Amino acid sequence: TTPAVAPVLRLTSGLLHNSCWSLRRQARKLGVNQRSRQAHAISQIRTEAMASEHALISESAAWEALKKHVKTIEGTHLRELLQDQERCEELIKEYDGVVVDLSRQRVVHETIIKLLKLAEEAKLKEKIDKMFDGEHINVTENRAVLHAALRAPRDEVINCDGQNVVPSVWEVLDKINSFSDQIRSGSWLGATGKPLTDVVAIGIGGSFLGPLFVHTAFQTEPTCALAAKGRRLRFLANVDPIDVARALADLQQETTLVVIVSKTFTTAETMLNARTVRTWITSALGTEAVSKHMVAVSTNLKLVKEFGIDPANAFGFWDWVGGRYSVCSAVGVLPLALQYGFGNVKKFLEGAWSIDDHFRSAPLGRNLPVLLGLMSVWNVSFLGCPARAILPYCQALAKLAPHIQQVSMESNGKGVSIDGVPLPYGTGEVDFGEPGTNGQHSFYQLIHQGRVVPCDFIGIIKSQQSVYLKGEQVSNHDELMCNFFAQADALAFGKTREELLAEKVPEELIPHKMFSGNRQSLSILLPNLTPYTVGQLLALYENRVAVQGWIWGINSFDQWGVELGKSLAGKVRTQMNAARTKGKPLSGFNYSTTTLLTRYLQGKTQ
Ligand code: F6P
Repeated sequence: TTPAVAPVLRLTSGLLHNSCWSLRRQARKLGVNQRSRQAHAISQIRTEAMASEHALISESAAWEALKKHVKTIEGTHLRELLQDQERCEELIKEYDGVVVDLSRQRVVHETIIKLLKLAEEAKLKEKIDKMFDGEHINVTENRAVLHAALRAPRDEVINCDGQNVVPSVWEVLDKINSFSDQIRSGSWLGATGKPLTDVVAIGIGGSFLGPLFVHTAFQTEPTCALAAKGRRLRFLANVDPIDVARALADLQQETTLVVIVSKTFTTAETMLNARTVRTWITSALGTEAVSKHMVAVSTNLKLVKEFGIDPANAFGFWDWVGGRYSVCSAVGVLPLALQYGFGNVKKFLEGAWSIDDHFRSAPLGRNLPVLLGLMSVWNVSFLGCPARAILPYCQALAKLAPHIQQVSMESNGKGVSIDGVPLPYGTGEVDFGEPGTNGQHSFYQLIHQGRVVPCDFIGIIKSQQSVYLKGEQVSNHDELMCNFFAQADALAFGKTREELLAEKVPEELIPHKMFSGNRQSLSILLPNLTPYTVGQLLALYENRVAVQGWIWGINSFDQWGVELGKSLAGKVRTQMNAARTKGKPLSGFNYSTTTLLTRYLQGKTQ
């Protein structure tokens, strides 16, 4: 295939791949029969191919221009770029108290212009609008993507399939408000007449990581801490019996409320844990106790009922909320409201909405999630950095990186375009992180002198906690923030041979003590860490991930990649059970799996 024909072939084959479900669905909507459906599909493929609407972004002029521009950037060093005040001014942005400093990115004015051109080429603005307009942009699951509606004010109108979804969102929020109030005030009593002071939230993935992130961020915030006095919130995610033991340790059934959180209500680990904890409850309090001690959050209210939970004790959400984007639905709001009161959670939703509103309306050049997303695309696709470190200088944000790992990696780790065309470029990034300064004493060595890993530094101006020690040179929080400022500069400036010579470093140590610098990072500075700013931070990342996916031309809202492992586990489950109960020999596995599985089963009987 000659290079000129390759994109066309790729495009056509992708469209043909794609035609099966997407076009059939569209034709079905038009109410046409099988034959004319086929004709319709073919003509649509032609029209779409002609309009080049589905061409890969890497074939655009804007992408090509950025590739060429890399040469210019390679001729720069952040040491010099940071001397240019005009450039820095252009790259430090602020919205609603959130400061985002992009001046330590390896970009100049021209890079931003070119990235905005790429955004235009990728039809980014239209894609943002389509999301807020409730279009079914998650095409492989035929769903809208409206997690932003979960935090919309009561009077906002967000339509999906011809209906404003905001009233139904608020119906659930009002129900949570009243239920959490009953539990917290003690007007809802357990089976033995005691108030329920402890909550165990059972769920995994998006039904766990977001709520855990927010819980960790709220825990030490004074208003939240006061509201949570005398209450405990635990999470049970892993199917590992160790996690069950850890989650239930020291809890009493008669004072515990269990919240089963599962969008599908079919996730194997969650359902097994739910059955385990139901037995824990009923063995102590009898089966009648379930209605007082167990509630559920799900989109599958039928299965919730079949599980034995009173529909009145179920909190619904909708298929237009992706699992990893569900923390602002009852998934997060219910457990968090039980622990911290609905008022605090409402402020968190308001913070997230502040960024959503900015995201949908601000011009792209001043739009924080857009600029953040473009920086990531630039680093991943043009500067060849496939990893990103998320480094909050705030212990309360300890669970930010694990949450963003799912939001980002499950969304953008894809191999084909939204039309099913295999991608000639990598998408997504490897996210990891730890709060500073702990991370500095762990993996920063690699970031400073080993591989280039773009870093997100997140700092807080006013700590959640006041100062204990007086008379020190700086307070604990100031000390923490000294490191926040220093690390970004250490990465950018590095340390030269000349500087080391001036310090009289022995010649043989100079190569070891040199820092190349020119390692990019960005800094996000929040005024404080309150429910409101936690919401802002969440929405910044969620929307940023969407921007990256839209530029790369992928579907950031499905997750087919998690299915294969799940179904293979089902096969192992069946055979493990048959081997144990009927002594049936294992079959159909490869040599390695058979050997290990046999060893495992033998070990159990010894
Ligand atoms: O395995 C991945 C996943 O499907 C996630 O996308 C989701 O957040 C998680 O499992 C849990 O799913 P559910 O809420 O349906 O139990």
